[in-house]
Amino acid sequence: MFKILKKQVLTPEIKLMVIDAPRVARKAKAGQFVILRINDQGERIPLTIADFDPEKGTVTIIFQEVGKTTMMLGEMEAGDTILDFVGPLGKEMEEKNFGHVVCVGGGVGIAPTFPKARALKEAGNRVTSIIGARTASMLFWEDKMREVSDKLYVTTDDGSYGEKGFVTTVLERVLEQEKVDLVIAVGPVMMMKMTSLLTKKHGVPTLVSLNPIMVDGTGMCGCCRVSVNGQCKFTCVDGPIFDGHAVDFDELLSRQRIYLEEEKRALEKYLATRAKEEAHYAE
Ligand SMILES: Cc1cc2nc3c(=O)[nH]c(=O)nc-3n(C[C@H](O)[C@H](O)[C@H](O)COP(=O)(O)OP(=O)(O)OC[C@H]3O[C@@H](n4cnc5c(N)ncnc54)[C@H](O)[C@@H]3O)c2cc1C
Ligand code: FES
Repeated sequence: MFKILKKQVLTPEIKLMVIDAPRVARKAKAGQFVILRINDQGERIPLTIADFDPEKGTVTIIFQEVGKTTMMLGEMEAGDTILDFVGPLGKEMEEKNFGHVVCVGGGVGIAPTFPKARALKEAGNRVTSIIGARTASMLFWEDKMREVSDKLYVTTDDGSYGEKGFVTTVLERVLEQEKVDLVIAVGPVMMMKMTSLLTKKHGVPTLVSLNPIMVDGTGMCGCCRVSVNGQCKFTCVDGPIFDGHAVDFDELLSRQRIYLEEEKRALEKYLATRAKEEAHYAE
């Protein structure tokens, strides 16, 4: 059992939890993830390690409530326990001095961008970060990103905070004005696709952190397969970080939609049960 030590509501849909998981915290590296299961009937969901403290033995996760399991997790509180918390999984990011690195984080992807930017800064890189969200209330960790970046740009799609536009709007300007040695992008698949198309035009190497549907996280079920350079790769063991110029993003986008109907039904059933329970206790 893994105890939730702290819960923080970052935005109405995005929550942070600090989990007591000393063995995971001791081995964690930037770029890796965990797979957790709330209870013995729960599904296994992958979440990136957003931060970790080997001395305190804690791992921080940040998740967006998109369906049944993330919503159930969001309802848990400090003091509650999670049944399984397996990790660190996936390959770590290469932590070396590339020169000038631009870290791009979109939406909940800001969370996994943070440990990467921090590790790259510690490795001696000049780090420029660009973070963006749909609107001001969906933005978080600006302060933490600023701490690990030489320069930070903030965008919102609706212009309610920072610069109006997408993260790629700012990235294009940076690529035109400065020499960039590497771009790292984490966020929605469409954002990573657009970033990779842009950096390809400018000839700048690009890493992306993929988020296909996963089940076992051990390379056995084949659920998380993606095409990279025309070759089949399993994101859980070969990734999640890949060369953005080699990923078949259109295939990834369509594979992510495979279980849309089932996911919708699971969420509707869960919300109906919750509403019934709430009505019962209100009586
Ligand atoms: C390596 C990796 C790291 C991730 N890190 C984060 C993170 O740090 N924060 C965060 O908010 N989300 C992260 N995700 C996505 C997260 O796993 C899904 O949002 C979650 O599984 C949704 O579960 P649900 O039951 O709430 O929603 P569902 O109703 O089951 O699904 C809603 C959507 O979530 C995605 N999804 C569903 N099941 C899975 C699954 N088993 N694996 C991957 N995606 C799934 C699908 O695109 C689906 O359309 C990550 C995914 C991967 C693969
Ligand atoms: S999640 Fe099963 S092979 Fe990767």
